[in-house]
Amino acid sequence: MSNEREQWVSRIGFILAAAGSAIGLGNIWRFPHVTGTEGGAVFVLIYLITTLLIGYPLLNTEVSIGRKTQRNPVGAFKALAPNTPWWLVGALGVFTGFIILSYYSVVAGWAMSYTAQSLGGLYAPGTDYVDTFVGHISQVWEPILWHFLFMLITVGVIAAGVVKGIQRTVKILMPMLFILFVALIVRSLTLPGAGAGVAFYLQPDFSQVTGQTFLSAIAQAFFTLSLGMGALITYGSYLKQNEDVSVDSGWVVGLDTGIALLAGFAIFPAVFALGFDPDGGAGLAFMTLPAVFAEMPMGQLFGFLFFLLLSVAALTSAISLLEVVVAWVIDEHGWSRRTAAVVLGGLIFLLGIPSVLGFSAWSDITFQGMDILDTFDWFANSIFLPLGGLLTAIFAGYVWGNQKVMEEANCGKDRQFLCAWYAVSIKYIIPIAIAVVMVWGLYETFFG
Ligand code: PHE
Ligand code: NA
Repeated sequence: MSNEREQWVSRIGFILAAAGSAIGLGNIWRFPHVTGTEGGAVFVLIYLITTLLIGYPLLNTEVSIGRKTQRNPVGAFKALAPNTPWWLVGALGVFTGFIILSYYSVVAGWAMSYTAQSLGGLYAPGTDYVDTFVGHISQVWEPILWHFLFMLITVGVIAAGVVKGIQRTVKILMPMLFILFVALIVRSLTLPGAGAGVAFYLQPDFSQVTGQTFLSAIAQAFFTLSLGMGALITYGSYLKQNEDVSVDSGWVVGLDTGIALLAGFAIFPAVFALGFDPDGGAGLAFMTLPAVFAEMPMGQLFGFLFFLLLSVAALTSAISLLEVVVAWVIDEHGWSRRTAAVVLGGLIFLLGIPSVLGFSAWSDITFQGMDILDTFDWFANSIFLPLGGLLTAIFAGYVWGNQKVMEEANCGKDRQFLCAWYAVSIKYIIPIAIAVVMVWGLYETFFG
């Protein structure tokens, strides 16, 4: 390796960067709309169980693999299991990073456009927000331009490096995000009629459960925690040896889950109070929230801040997606960081264009009724991430060895319960649960 490997400067640097990766569109855009389509509270419940039983142990495992090897996902598997095909799991992760970032950036572009529109007449009385949203995404050049701008900023941060780029960005942006959220929730919960939304969100209706519900919950848990594609292997690879992995990981999982749950409280009470359909799909956050802002005092200011922070949350996630891909070519192929960021960022920008066109020129192209963007999202989250997680757990439990994970994750004698939890989860729960749910969910999707 030619380049000296950078390291997070402080413990809080790692936690904020990893939480920045985790907290993103997955919490504020994807979690509410999937909860809306998958039946509300019962989905939330299964997602929370998945987070505890699968998400937290796997997050520890990924960070441990990264810190131990100090490599990108491909290099990490090569280092731990030389001359075996296990590096393909890392390669699957890099590939998935390409796919996810391509459409992630398109949605982030919508958020940026709404930030700009918030300064104009977006909250004028009588605005139809369904028309506004559909009108925006079904154009061609505007969404492509915003997508380009978002990728440009992402490339800029990554080119600047781990400490000067990533760490500096998240340290400013993450605290801003937390503060604004609280204000939004207070507003949403105090709207007249908010109670129906709270009920939809908190009272499980078990008649809604199918294999699909479980598959969607696992998919959401993986996506929201940035799991199954090596983002946390990569971020873990910049972690110093004296950090306590289990505690840091706990912070990341807690912050991410907290923000997702809060996003539900910001959105569902408002959806029901204003008479919207919770099953609104990908546009939920873009069609419902502006209507809420339009009705509230200082709505324009809150609206502007919300979309700004949505863009910011997306940025701190996007940089982790690009970092996976960039770290791979730096470590494995000796590219310079700058070249890697620009070339790979450019390719990802191009790959995102079909997702934009899927709402206009290419709207005839669908898969199981989904447009191109939703199709990319579905493949990444329902197949690639769970598969990556499944293989990572099998690798950690049976090839590298449970004991090694626990050593690296600082799961010592004083943490018996945690050790047992990891061991059972990595060796049994994760492989069996994911395999069963994938087969069942996929069968229902295609043949049900
Ligand atoms: N966790 C991010 C979110 O919730 C998305 C993401 C997935 C980021 C995979 C990195 C890797 O928005
Ligand atoms: Na998330």
